Amino acid sequence: MNQRIAVPLPKAYLLLNHGPTVLVSSAHGERRNVMAAAWNMALDFDPPKVAVVIDKATLTRDLIEASGDFVLNVPARAQAALTLAAGSESGRGMDKIVKVGAGTTAASRVGAPLIDGCLAWLECRVIPEPHIQKTYDLFLGEVVAAWADPEVFSNGRWHFPDSDRRSIHYLAGGSFFATGEPFEV
Ligand SMILES: Cc1cc2nc3c(=O)[nH]c(=O)nc-3n(C[C@H](O)[C@H](O)[C@H](O)COP(=O)(O)O)c2cc1C
Repeated sequence: MNQRIAVPLPKAYLLLNHGPTVLVSSAHGERRNVMAAAWNMALDFDPPKVAVVIDKATLTRDLIEASGDFVLNVPARAQAALTLAAGSESGRGMDKIVKVGAGTTAASRVGAPLIDGCLAWLECRVIPEPHIQKTYDLFLGEVVAAWADPEVFSNGRWHFPDSDRRSIHYLAGGSFFATGEPFEV
């Protein structure tokens, strides 16, 4: 696991505000899994909440519905191939976390693991909303703990110290943008 520091919960929205594609990790009983999710967003400041689309065909959906929690991991540019692999094959019948070569660390407040090497992590508990889960595959979560690699995010600011440690934004067909240069207005 890379270094990580706690992010104050009212600042957790900043980890998703620029729209990174995330890895959703999940676990229940002996099973654990990871998938990619581009369709995610921050939903509130305090207590922080997130929204993420988890298709009903996915193993992730089964594990999240069974456990009631998940982690949104913000992968680095260096993990783009891992992210594409996690989003291209279901973990049914295998340990996809091993298959994509990811290490994990136990989370502090939820059963789903943290994916090593990411830039930031949001530990989330499902806010049950059966109608939107069933109709739109949309899951809401309360962020109960948040972490960041301090070289990349600290004091409420992203630093992106080098090209490998930028967040990534999915287009389609294996194409991504890396987060670009910041500017002030
Ligand atoms: C970059 C990328 C982003 C994706 N975003 C989403 C998403 O937001 N929601 C979703 O349900 N599936 C998304 N997918 C597809 C899932 O990651 C894919 O169905 C995955 O294989 C599900 O894995 P599982 O069955 O092991 O849970 C995305 C795939 C890729 C490659």
